[in-house]
Amino acid sequence: MSPQERIHELTDKINYYNYQYYQNSISEVDDYTFDTLLEELIGLERQYPEFRRPDTPSLRVGGTVSKEFPTVYHRFPMLSLGNTYSEVELVEFDNRVRKGLNDQPYTYVCELKFDGVALSMTYENGVLVQGATRGDGVRGDDITHNIRTIRTLPLRIHGDKIPPLFEVRGEGFLPLAEFERINKEREDIGEPLLANPRNAASGTFKQQDSAIVAKRRLDCYLYSFLSEPEIFQTHEESLVAMNQWGFNVSPTWRTCRTIQEVMAYIQEWETNRYSLPLATDGIVIKVNRYDQQRELGFTAKSPRWAIAYKYKAQAASTTLNSVSYQVGRTGAVTPVAHLKPVLLAGTVVKRASLHNANEIQRLGVMLNDTVFIEKGGEIIPKVTGVDLAKRTAASVPIDYPTHCPACGTPLVRKEGEAHFYCPNEKSCPPQRQARLEHFIQRRAMNIESLGEGKIELLIDKGLLENPADLYDLTTEKLLGLEKAYTDEESGKIRVVSFREKTVENILTAIERSRQQPFPNVLFALGIRYVGNTTAEKLADYFGSMDELMAAPYETLVNVPEVGPRIAQSIVAWFADPDNQRFVERLRQAGLQFAADRKIVEPESSKLDGKTFLYTGTFAHFSREELEERIQANGGKLLSGVSKKLSYLIVGENAGPSKVDKARKLGVNMIGEQEFIAMIS
Ligand code: IVH
Repeated sequence: MSPQERIHELTDKINYYNYQYYQNSISEVDDYTFDTLLEELIGLERQYPEFRRPDTPSLRVGGTVSKEFPTVYHRFPMLSLGNTYSEVELVEFDNRVRKGLNDQPYTYVCELKFDGVALSMTYENGVLVQGATRGDGVRGDDITHNIRTIRTLPLRIHGDKIPPLFEVRGEGFLPLAEFERINKEREDIGEPLLANPRNAASGTFKQQDSAIVAKRRLDCYLYSFLSEPEIFQTHEESLVAMNQWGFNVSPTWRTCRTIQEVMAYIQEWETNRYSLPLATDGIVIKVNRYDQQRELGFTAKSPRWAIAYKYKAQAASTTLNSVSYQVGRTGAVTPVAHLKPVLLAGTVVKRASLHNANEIQRLGVMLNDTVFIEKGGEIIPKVTGVDLAKRTAASVPIDYPTHCPACGTPLVRKEGEAHFYCPNEKSCPPQRQARLEHFIQRRAMNIESLGEGKIELLIDKGLLENPADLYDLTTEKLLGLEKAYTDEESGKIRVVSFREKTVENILTAIERSRQQPFPNVLFALGIRYVGNTTAEKLADYFGSMDELMAAPYETLVNVPEVGPRIAQSIVAWFADPDNQRFVERLRQAGLQFAADRKIVEPESSKLDGKTFLYTGTFAHFSREELEERIQANGGKLLSGVSKKLSYLIVGENAGPSKVDKARKLGVNMIGEQEFIAMIS
């Protein structure tokens, strides 16, 4: 089979498995087989870029960086909908529809109103060729690269009756679980939290690096089909067909014959919507028949054949009993409202978020006030206001602490930040504990058998001051340790004790953690702003802890995805003598301080006897890929510019020092295209 045929075969096969998985929830192959096929395809496409198909699943993993998004004009304008919060107005809408249709019979389709970002996707000959945002309704941004990362969106569809050119529209969103996961990760590295899933989705779709987009599992529900000429008679038919062709159509829609049936749908989903994987803020009611939609037409802004009914935000009012202050891993102090328990959207709420000191001031809230709380897209309810009519003499101002509630150190506030911080990073107990929890988490050193109260016990007994102490633990030190705790939430007493089996599990996990890869170790250090992705990029770039520690600010800011803020944070972290001692202890403990270099399959001997170094960034390769190509074709990588160097490959934003030195020594400098020509 020729490479081109194999590329075709792999593309079809992988797209088919994706379709089965995302549309029908069937795994026809295990993850390993799937990944192997995908890797083979990526390898072949790299060697034969000319055979890469436009619907290749390899684009799902992202990798394209755009400076800015081109503007695209929508073939059909993207309109918005009239809104209402009232059932009376819905009846009026129904009356207008009846009148507009001169009393012909009609039906509605009800759908949920998904709270995300409106997207429009164009397909030519069944292949996804363009994805765009709504923009101002007439023109939007071309974000095709980012849209391709949505795994449930077919890159190619098959079936009869598919018009050669059509558009599908829908709502792009960040599933709630994914939103929570991202915020957990951000909290972990001291990044400000994303406000709600909608903003998070919209920010993600406008990310310039599609590889980052691919890491956030965006999704999309489709709700319109547009083609000229029209191929369906009703909206209902279009939803059924889109679903059959493999588009992700939420199964929550329903055809209703009367406005009463619409009301029943609204009531049913008022609380049921909280069980959906995404935020919704209402329902959309659409006249079903397209000819009737045409007859009703549009106003200047929105169709007369559709309306959005919005649910009022679920709110309740209750008493603010007290405010507690939590200190996170980075020392940020977060106020939490403790409330008289109240029922809200089906759950009992006892606590709500007050975000930060600014927010308390903005709300003007006092202790013992009656406060309004709301549940929006996010899971934790928030305090949204004060019922001033109910304020009594019992209300007293909230004294925002000036000192850390945990260790008593005076709090500081950095320029432009909404949070106060406890600067006692090293010995403030909650900061210390959070640092340990960060260190043992799965994505770091994976010593999770130490979770749930066991860490507290070790801290209490003075055995864990610093994560490096983990590697000094022994059976003798652990066996028999015991402590009773009162569970804050339930008031129950819980005993944590280290029996033989527990100790064995803990020590095995610690032992195994010595093999955790270098990027995990780097992430585990807990350097502010260095999350998983940044740790991977740093590991890729520097290859070892020593190289990273020696890197000056100027080198760090050149690493992909590392900006001035991260670079500064890394430099400051490694400059601290305590941190240096910590790193040395981890080295003594035998943790992985260097990246595994991949074994590269040979491709040719075109670069035999030649040496290479590169500088800057490249359009077709990551640094890792470039290194792989050099090695696979027989070339050798050098670590600095010298007379021995045959070629310096110069990319965008190349480092001036390397280029200058190469010029002085008369080393050949080539661009990316010349390099590609050398190996193809
Ligand atoms: S139909 C002309 N259906 O709501 C009608 N829109 O204000 C086009 N939306 O921009 C929209 N869920 O982003 C439609 N099931 C649904 C929807 C929905 C959410 C959003 C969409 C649109 C806005 C309309």
